[in-house]
Amino acid sequence: MHFARCVRLLAVSAVCLGPPDTGAAEAMAPPPGLAAGKAVYDQHCAACHGDTGEGNGPAAVWLYPKPRNFSAGLYKIQSTPAGALPSDEDLYRSITRGLGGSSMPAFDYLPEADRRAVVPYVKYLTAVLTPDGRRLNRFEAAQAAGAQAAPITVPRTSADLRLHHARP
Ligand code: HEC
Repeated sequence: MHFARCVRLLAVSAVCLGPPDTGAAEAMAPPPGLAAGKAVYDQHCAACHGDTGEGNGPAAVWLYPKPRNFSAGLYKIQSTPAGALPSDEDLYRSITRGLGGSSMPAFDYLPEADRRAVVPYVKYLTAVLTPDGRRLNRFEAAQAAGAQAAPITVPRTSADLRLHHARP
């Protein structure tokens, strides 16, 4: 009786096969706090950077330089030392001003709240799947390792610069 019911259910769903395999979907489901950033991203960025940020959106074939593959964790514009990940402010600035000489547009026409909201989502997409299927976020890993570098302080005025050089 139970078996027969199970077989009948099997015809319309996977109820008899144990819990559904949601591993991959779960790995990609962003935390609820990122919903606003995801909405901005899906509407304004995914066509070039791809749904999962791997730089492979439908428009990418036409573009050179190619849209950034966020999962690689390599960024051009950063106030942090070479090899380190950019700061939130660096990402915000790139999104606001765009990247000259490329198709990366300036999004200064979007409300500031939207430009700010999309920054953590870009960081969220800066992730790779490890061989054992875990999602490794490069920003979180750097922070956990104490390797999330602080911005370099740049002297702002020529007087600062002289002082800077005068130091032994
Ligand atoms: C028309 C295509 C296009 C769209 C739309 C687009 N980008 Fe880009 N983006 C690019 C390209 C191309 C680059 C790489 C530019 C380069 O290498 O000089 C880039 C680079 C970047 C970078 C890397 C900056 C760095 O320091 O290397 C970030 C961050 C970024 N985009 C975020 C976004 C966000 C967020 C959006 C949506 C709000 C967006 N992009 C929309 C094409 C696009």
